[in-house]
Amino acid sequence: MIVIKDVHKVFNRGKANQVNAVNGIKLNITDDEFLVIVGSNGSGKTTLLNLVAGSEFPDIGSISIDSNDVSKLTDYKRSQWIARVFQNPISGTASDLSILDNFRLAAIRTKAKGLSIGINDQFKQQVKEKIATLGMGLENKIEQPMGTLSGGQRQALTLLMSVMDSCKVLLLDEPTAALDPRSADVVMRTADKLITDFKLTAILITHNLKDAYNYGTRIIQMSEGLVLRDLSNSQKSDLKQSDLFDWFG
Ligand SMILES: Nc1ncnc2c1ncn2[C@@H]1O[C@H](COP(=O)(O)OP(=O)(O)OP(=O)(O)O)[C@@H](O)[C@H]1O
Ligand SMILES: [Mg+2]
Repeated sequence: MIVIKDVHKVFNRGKANQVNAVNGIKLNITDDEFLVIVGSNGSGKTTLLNLVAGSEFPDIGSISIDSNDVSKLTDYKRSQWIARVFQNPISGTASDLSILDNFRLAAIRTKAKGLSIGINDQFKQQVKEKIATLGMGLENKIEQPMGTLSGGQRQALTLLMSVMDSCKVLLLDEPTAALDPRSADVVMRTADKLITDFKLTAILITHNLKDAYNYGTRIIQMSEGLVLRDLSNSQKSDLKQSDLFDWFG
């Protein structure tokens, strides 16, 4: 369970350009939840995710994960619980290294569960099997440099690498914004499958209202650093896709 308790984040406090990016947010996100966040540009979505990840710290309020108060922990310390995928497919992996070497790095970094770290054939076989589950045929390209893959292929591998460790929480900030529609579709379906398979708590920020409608078990709309709407799974099921568009009317 992630508990966000009355969290505030102000940038440039006391200056002419002061922004109240997160303005007193209170949210409990249960272990089995896949929370989708929508909202206009500048409504505080990324700041909220940064506060959960530990790349920003709250001015007021607290954040806990499984009853551990993480409010003052760095993102590095929080990585034992949290994996994160960004908008840019390039930011998650090393372009010049092969797919296999990228998995080696990930395994070392996260002490990945179910992977025997190393250079041996067993490791290679395990990586191939994991990659095969994506159904993209990439298991035959593991010696190829990451930089030779398409953005969608890269983003799918980044997702896989990020959830292989013992993390419990997956944070996705517009993971498909830089992808063409077909690749975006593959990446979203991959994310959804991994979230289910690994039983992750997930938070997805998206401007794609079709994805917001199709994925997730709860949806919130943010506005000016606050939660404007908060719909449970059953309330979300009653929603029509056009209702979501109307939220932005
Ligand atoms: N490091 C920072 N310094 C100053 N202002 C910031 C900083 N980070 C965010 N802001 C401001 O805080 C507000 C919320 O930004 P945030 O990035 O959280 O919005 P967002 O909802 O993710 O928007 P988008 O949909 O465009 O990604 C914006 O006004 C932004 O300019
Ligand atoms: Mg953002």
